[in-house]
Amino acid sequence: MAILVTGGLGYIGSHTVVELLNNDFEVVIVDDLSNSEKFILKNIEEIAGKKPVFYPFDLKRKELLEQVFEAHPIEGCINFAAYKAVGESQEKPIDYYENNLFSLINILQEFKKRNISNFIFSSSCTVYGQADTMPIDENTPLKAAESVYGKTKQMGEEILKDFAVGYQKKISLLRYFNPIGAHPSARLGELPIGIPNNLVPYVVQTAAGIREILSVWGDDYPTEDGTAVRDYIYVVDLAKAHVAALKSLINNPSDKAVIDVYNLGTGKGSSVLDVVKAFESATGVKVPYQICDRREGDITVAYANADKAEKELGWKSDTTLEEALKTSWEWQKYVTSRN
Ligand code: NAD
Ligand code: WQD
Repeated sequence: MAILVTGGLGYIGSHTVVELLNNDFEVVIVDDLSNSEKFILKNIEEIAGKKPVFYPFDLKRKELLEQVFEAHPIEGCINFAAYKAVGESQEKPIDYYENNLFSLINILQEFKKRNISNFIFSSSCTVYGQADTMPIDENTPLKAAESVYGKTKQMGEEILKDFAVGYQKKISLLRYFNPIGAHPSARLGELPIGIPNNLVPYVVQTAAGIREILSVWGDDYPTEDGTAVRDYIYVVDLAKAHVAALKSLINNPSDKAVIDVYNLGTGKGSSVLDVVKAFESATGVKVPYQICDRREGDITVAYANADKAEKELGWKSDTTLEEALKTSWEWQKYVTSRN
């Protein structure tokens, strides 16, 4: 069974391609390399011992996408391809809407035309905004999105629900919390371009001496140590959830619309300082930091209730924060050795 993986050379996509290959799926990747590098393909092949098919083009190019569907018996899609930088999305809103939504619609047009089902969408905990109660389960009301990026995720979810209902298709909306870590082989990981916005890449680059000091954005939040709390989920666990979600869709015999929604997190909240301490204890490397003002638009606390994924998909994240951060450090050493 061939599965189209868009953005399959990116951070979460590459880990998921390995898990799909390990589960004997044939994988067809489309990635325009706008936020990834070609060597990841070779590393995927080395880890999995199998070759995915790879097409380097932009999903907005409908005519090229059509050729992929002509050439392969695609029976499902995991759609990772999107722009994901929250700050940049405010500066380039139209580029974000165009890339994240036109790509999605182009794939759905092919699905519709060829009567294909089984579509998995990379959504985000960002759709909940600052939820009123913790932990966040799938019935927690969505708030108005705080960024254009967040809006593209909310709109993507709406488009897919309408697609499922309108054409009796099976879809899964996976709301990731904060993905971290790298493959245990240290051959796949996150490749931030320029100065990282996200916490873990910044911590790692500070430890490596690439950045001078970590700025901790705010220590006056109403949390135990005053720093903001998130649910950091190990990327390999996250990748495995995609395989479980895909199998669940494929094995669902319904000929009616199926709309699965799952929160993918650990269920545990960790503060910014918890992350710094866990990194230091996992690696023995110090992370110099300074306390700064809060970052605009940041929420105080977000962690998942991921019981639904455990109950329905048999999936659970069991990797500790320390274990995950250790893999980020090994990946950073590999990246440094390549430069
Ligand atoms: P990433 O940037 O590493 O991967 C995305 C990949 O898609 C990149 O390889 C990029 O080159 C490719 N791409 C982008 N636009 C494309 C286009 N038009 N045509 C072809 N390829 C294109 O990002 P990631 O962290 O792996 O995230 C994957 C998905 O998960 C994204 O949809 C993101 O919004 C979502 N997500 C990420 C996080 C996170 O913190 N990393 C959290 C929640 C949701
Ligand atoms: C985590 C915590 C920061 C950097 C973002 C997106 C969200 C989702 C996940 C895609 C916060 C603090 C960070 C630094 C710091 N992505 N921090 N110093 O903000 O939870 O969410 O990624 O869907 O949409 O907004 O993640 O890693 O940026 O920050 O103190 O240098 O670390 O203030 O409390 P965030 P993050």
